[in-house]
Amino acid sequence: MAIDEIAPDVYRISKYAPEIDLQFNQFLIKDDEPLLFHTGMKSLFPSVLESVSSLIDPSTIRWIGFSHFEADECGSLNEWLQIAPAAKPVCSMVGALVSINDFASRPALGMTDGQVLNTGKYRFRFCQTPQVPHCWEAGLLFEETNGTLLCSDLFHQNGDVEPLTRSDVIGRARKTLIDYQAGPFANYMPYTKHTDGILQNLAALKPQTIAPMHGSAYAGDGERAIRDLAGVMREVLG
Ligand SMILES: [Fe+2]
Ligand SMILES: [Fe+2]
Repeated sequence: MAIDEIAPDVYRISKYAPEIDLQFNQFLIKDDEPLLFHTGMKSLFPSVLESVSSLIDPSTIRWIGFSHFEADECGSLNEWLQIAPAAKPVCSMVGALVSINDFASRPALGMTDGQVLNTGKYRFRFCQTPQVPHCWEAGLLFEETNGTLLCSDLFHQNGDVEPLTRSDVIGRARKTLIDYQAGPFANYMPYTKHTDGILQNLAALKPQTIAPMHGSAYAGDGERAIRDLAGVMREVLG
């Protein structure tokens, strides 16, 4: 596991899986009420726990957030709920009602679009993004103080890449989408009549750091990067 602070108090905990040439990134945000975004799969739990333990007391985690209901997003949710007795899952209201409140050992905070979660110093705005990157219940969290967008599978880049870059990641993200379209992972992300509008709304947040689950985080003009990604998604998937 590699641990890097990619924005103030935002730690990227990354595991590279060489057999699929893919990184799985979990993000820990240190605050009065610490937030873990993505738990990683169950198989990663011991190593993510060890990494989190090197940063904070893991039993103090208060929020466990994720975009949608998949193993890399929330596979070890129940293991984390056991380790951290005050922790609560945080996801979309749809995610809570459709899957999480049944799957998880404790109910979730189900967020609606624009709702804000305060963790102390930081404020996380919930963006409801159905089918973006994928799944009905999809949503993203935007940390408003430093402008960090926790963007799940958006900006997915394959490879064992650097934790944070200021160079354009669009070329890599485009290549990944094109490569996936040619193989067993085709149609990874649906392209609906709502996709572009959702991406334009995310761009309007003007993120300064974009934090994907797979690949490098990007620091720079996040508005432009998301508009570029919208163009790539239209080109490759539309
Ligand atoms: Fe996903
Ligand atoms: Fe993912």
